[in-house]
Amino acid sequence: MNPTAKPLSNGHCRVCSAKIAPFMSFGRMPIANGFLRPDETGNEYFFELAPAFCESCGMFQLLEQPQPEKMFHEQYAFYSSTSRYMQAHFEVFALSVINTVLAERKDPFVVELGSNDGIMLRHFKARGVRHLGIEPSANVAEVARTQGISTISAFFDHKLADGIAAEHGRADAILAANVMCHIPDLPGVAAGVQRLLKPDGVFIFEDPYLGDMIAKTSYDQIYDEHVFIFSANSVRCAFEPFALELIDVMPQITHGGSMRYTLAPKGSRQVSIKVNEQLAKEAALGLDRAETYHRFKANCENSRDALMRTLERLRGQEKRVVGYGATSKSTTVINYCGMTPEHVEFISDTTPIKQGRLSPGAHIPVKPYGEFTKRYPDYALLFAWNHAAEIREKEAGFVSAGGRWIVYVPEVAIVA
Ligand code: TYD
Ligand code: ZN
Repeated sequence: MNPTAKPLSNGHCRVCSAKIAPFMSFGRMPIANGFLRPDETGNEYFFELAPAFCESCGMFQLLEQPQPEKMFHEQYAFYSSTSRYMQAHFEVFALSVINTVLAERKDPFVVELGSNDGIMLRHFKARGVRHLGIEPSANVAEVARTQGISTISAFFDHKLADGIAAEHGRADAILAANVMCHIPDLPGVAAGVQRLLKPDGVFIFEDPYLGDMIAKTSYDQIYDEHVFIFSANSVRCAFEPFALELIDVMPQITHGGSMRYTLAPKGSRQVSIKVNEQLAKEAALGLDRAETYHRFKANCENSRDALMRTLERLRGQEKRVVGYGATSKSTTVINYCGMTPEHVEFISDTTPIKQGRLSPGAHIPVKPYGEFTKRYPDYALLFAWNHAAEIREKEAGFVSAGGRWIVYVPEVAIVA
């Protein structure tokens, strides 16, 4: 999270420094969360979105990335607490930490990296647990602070880790959700975690999981902010030099398939049998082999072509298609596939600061949710597919009015 981190890795793995090259390109991409005011379309920033796989350490990564300031700033449009399901998910996460790791500890201290609007820390605060959130986006950090959740706006590295340890003592638990994959200087963060964690502390983080992305061709997990897509194998390798050992893994359904990793100072705790089981599953899936990524590339192209054939056909029939959820992920899909406002009339989204803006790159208008319910379209393109269960339950009325969903994960399909 160091703002001066080089966005270019100069063709070397960001973790192990092996020489690597992208295996495919999604083309010129805007900032995934860069929703524009109508007067801002003139000077939009683009970069080439091209993922690479390191055969030495197994890390899936972007070699070129925009400067962090272009992605995480005071206008950052992402607030965690917009989904009911995610709120429940983080409550369960927090309670599991409180009831296991922190149980019977005296005055424990919890640090969360990328604590956003406090969606998880609020549960520690409510139980009087000492906590500190570290959130570089000032606007979301402020939302947390107004709710009494201790939060600082900073980028986490070993210097900040030392400062926190000096002021508050070392941490019993360091947590991170959907944030480790955002940080280009992963070794820098690992060094910070190593210094901030108590000898019997744990570091628990979760992120979208490479195994799910490959199995479901959910290539929309790849966008500017996601500099890494982790696997158990790559996480194990990345933290080994910092004497942090992968002791547990736990699959999660969030974000279309995530993995929760638990790490602890080497030798301090028993390694769960689930770690070896997951590593074996990854080997069976071919996550350690270059040919898997060549097949993934072909699958992405097929998915793109099938989705655009569907949208072109519906356009020919003059059907109304509206996007559901102006997700960060949708920026990759929309721009890689070449969608325009001719294909998708507008995108409905419940986040106030996205409304009235234009989607990055393709400039599809983002409108309040009320525009969707006011006059249902013929088809809704489910960009927020990771919330499919919650959304399809909520939108039963759309389907009974004759509306149909267009989905593209794991395959392009029209469903009721
Ligand atoms: P999110 O799941 O965080 O995906 P990403 O990480 O790709 O941005 O974003 C969900 C988006 O969808 C967010 O902008 C809010 C919107 N949304 C709706 O408009 N309606 C809904 O019912 C839900 C669940 C989300
Ligand atoms: Zn590597």
